[in-house]
Amino acid sequence: MNACEYIPGLENIPAAKSSISFVDGQDGILEYRGISIQELANKSSFLECAYLLIWDQLPTQSQLEAFESEIRYHRRVKYRIRDMMKCFPETGHPMDALQTSAAALGLFYARRALDDPEYIRQAVVRLLAKIPTMVAAFHQMRRGNDPVQPHDKLDYGANFLYMLTERKPNALAAKVFDVCLTLHAEHTMNASTFSAMVTASTLTDPYAVIASAVGTLAGPLHGGANEEVLVMLEEIGSVEKVSPYIEKRVANKEKIMGFGHRVYKVKDPRATILQGLAEQLFEETGRDEYYEIALELERVVEEKFGQKGIYANVDFYSGLVYRKLGIPTDLFTPIFAIARVAGWLAHWKEQLAVNRIFRPTQVYVGSHNMPYIPIEKRV
Ligand code: SDX
Repeated sequence: MNACEYIPGLENIPAAKSSISFVDGQDGILEYRGISIQELANKSSFLECAYLLIWDQLPTQSQLEAFESEIRYHRRVKYRIRDMMKCFPETGHPMDALQTSAAALGLFYARRALDDPEYIRQAVVRLLAKIPTMVAAFHQMRRGNDPVQPHDKLDYGANFLYMLTERKPNALAAKVFDVCLTLHAEHTMNASTFSAMVTASTLTDPYAVIASAVGTLAGPLHGGANEEVLVMLEEIGSVEKVSPYIEKRVANKEKIMGFGHRVYKVKDPRATILQGLAEQLFEETGRDEYYEIALELERVVEEKFGQKGIYANVDFYSGLVYRKLGIPTDLFTPIFAIARVAGWLAHWKEQLAVNRIFRPTQVYVGSHNMPYIPIEKRV
């Protein structure tokens, strides 16, 4: 490939050298700092994974306890931000509310002291700690309630569910939700991470970096797909209607949400784990009527498109897990963002060390030496 060849979507074009995570799309492998996602899903926790991703080492017991304790301390959000969020329209999408409030954190904490390791560490803690609180606060306020204050005795994921529902989750729900956060924490050079890196490369503040990434994740081709999957399952309505629905969607050249991936050409390993989590929840709380439709949908899509490398991705089963946990559909993508803050921050730190602004080139296909035509002579 010569230096000036244009590749749409930068497909297979390296944008960084990174040691944070690794994906093998042919064999369905995902590793965080070299540790398999299956090991981490079974044995780790979201905050331990966040520490691993951001500081490139598994924390000791005392390091993890100190990290968790500092996150708990910073969970609360200043009243000025809560008051600002009270002005958000209740019909606004929670991802837009999150993007706005994440950027607002910069009004209070951005010092752009990027050469100060303590500033970096504080920004990491504040963003990980406050993003869940802001998502839950917007949800409470749009229902006409006051925000539920964080519960200092609850772990990270359990506290989010508590702030969202005003009920402490049971042990299974808390564990399943924490694994969901781990699964969504990081995924190499995806669109929102790339967006975070481009923003970071200008040496702006980390709050602006996260706001950029949230806006990118919101799109239906990226993090927004998990919400669209539930819409699709509701539209299909029954197992018998799956095939006709797919035929019609393909005929209309509409993508099937929750399937396909730029890198994975086999089933996304995260989808497999999420499917298992959904079945664990179903054992305790009964099967979801959409699950049978989802299983048939996966079978039909695999039959029709498997040879093109189109299989279920991370967004296909996540919505069924969240629905079982009583989470509203339009909060599925904000939950994706809550988790991905860990990966975005890891790449932000890694990008700072590169210290080179992103400025790609283009292949110019326009005209030259064109005349300026006076407005009275234009047709
Ligand atoms: C995430 O990058 C990441 O790592 C992202 C992510 C992460 O953790 O950050 O994994 C999270 O974003 C998962 C993806 C969620 N999005 C969706 O589920 C939306 C539906 N999927 C598609 O939009 C699509 O598969 C993408 C965007 C995910 C990937 O698109 P690509 O790599 O650009 O693939 P493509 O659009 O070039 O498609 C190649 C072919 C096309 O057919 P042809 O024109 O060659 O005949 O495959 C077809 C596409 O039409 N195709 C699909 C399809 N995905 C690809 N056809 C129907 N339904 C689909 N879902």
